[in-house]
Amino acid sequence: MNAKITATAHHVPKRVMTNFELEKLVDTSDEWIRTRTGITQRHIAAKNEASSDLSSEVAEQLLKNRGIAADEIDIIIIATVTPDHFTPSTAAIVQNNIGAKNAWGFDLSAACTGYLYGLETGSKFISSGKYDKVMVIGVDTMSSILDFEDRNTCVLFGDGAGGAILEPSTSNLGIIDSMLHMDGSGGGYLHVPGGGSRIPATIESVEAKKHYIIQDGKKVFKFAVKGMADVSEKILDQNNMTGDDINLFIPHQANKRIIDAASERCNISKEKVLVNIDRFGNTTAGTIPIGMNEAVNNGRIQDGDIILLAAFGAGFTWGSMLLKWESN
Ligand code: ACO
Repeated sequence: MNAKITATAHHVPKRVMTNFELEKLVDTSDEWIRTRTGITQRHIAAKNEASSDLSSEVAEQLLKNRGIAADEIDIIIIATVTPDHFTPSTAAIVQNNIGAKNAWGFDLSAACTGYLYGLETGSKFISSGKYDKVMVIGVDTMSSILDFEDRNTCVLFGDGAGGAILEPSTSNLGIIDSMLHMDGSGGGYLHVPGGGSRIPATIESVEAKKHYIIQDGKKVFKFAVKGMADVSEKILDQNNMTGDDINLFIPHQANKRIIDAASERCNISKEKVLVNIDRFGNTTAGTIPIGMNEAVNNGRIQDGDIILLAAFGAGFTWGSMLLKWESN
């Protein structure tokens, strides 16, 4: 039994940070950020705003959009690399916040590919026949691990959350195929060195800035283009489709140039590619569900449409997913 998406939602913090604000923090320019990444602004969480707060807003909206009560949710899966705490899970906090008293759940860590890992995991619970309603949320409060003195990273990311409710499709539509990958040999190119069991937090680790995300942008860029393009091309081939068969491509939003290169490789025309990186930056696990919800709200997704999702992120992790949209 396939899983289909029956509701979508997203939420971003109120505060908008423009490129011009970043010009005052690091040696950069609006022009550099726009032309090299496609980003003009991003949303940044307030001091007391954590990933569970953004996720709980999404969860409440999902219940409302689907017209169901919180106690109807069976499982809550939260994809994030910026949980509120190591423990309890962000999923447990959201479960309590929304009163989903019959749900169990967990957090899942796969960086920018987290949402695809989450959808894949959630869809298998639906396929098992044991569960009817799985909430999958992708959230990242990247500002909590950004060094606003490092221009290599702080200009790229934003905070945000999006999600969906998965339910069984009796006509076997919904998620029709998926391909997920991981190559841990790329781990060092994009990572947060401290805070875990390898380098627990100490005064020295904080002073040495070990708790911020660091990356080799050029290396990540190269792998991201190849990874996202290859896995998108492969899933189309495997389903005897070409770019022409796609109604909407929702790629992870890390860099407009990565999106352009991947969609060109798959021969997907520009008007079929969802791009919102200009307004949100890279919200890591949030980009795909935010894009999906905007597309649903704008009427860019209709029942029967073929939707291609693709992502690449830290780990390295990457993957693609094909959906034949069926909302109810
Ligand atoms: N403002 C101004 N100049 C900058 C900035 C900045 N914010 N950042 C870097 N530069 C400089 C560099 O220092 C370099 O200067 P140099 O030539 O004097 O050394 C110059 O700009 C060009 O740098 P490049 O790295 O060649 O710039 P590039 O065109 O590759 O763009 C970027 C850099 C945007 C980081 C790009 O490599 C990229 O997007 N990489 C992928 C990053 C990414 O997606 N990361 C997240 C992945 S997903 C996840 O899981 C979280």
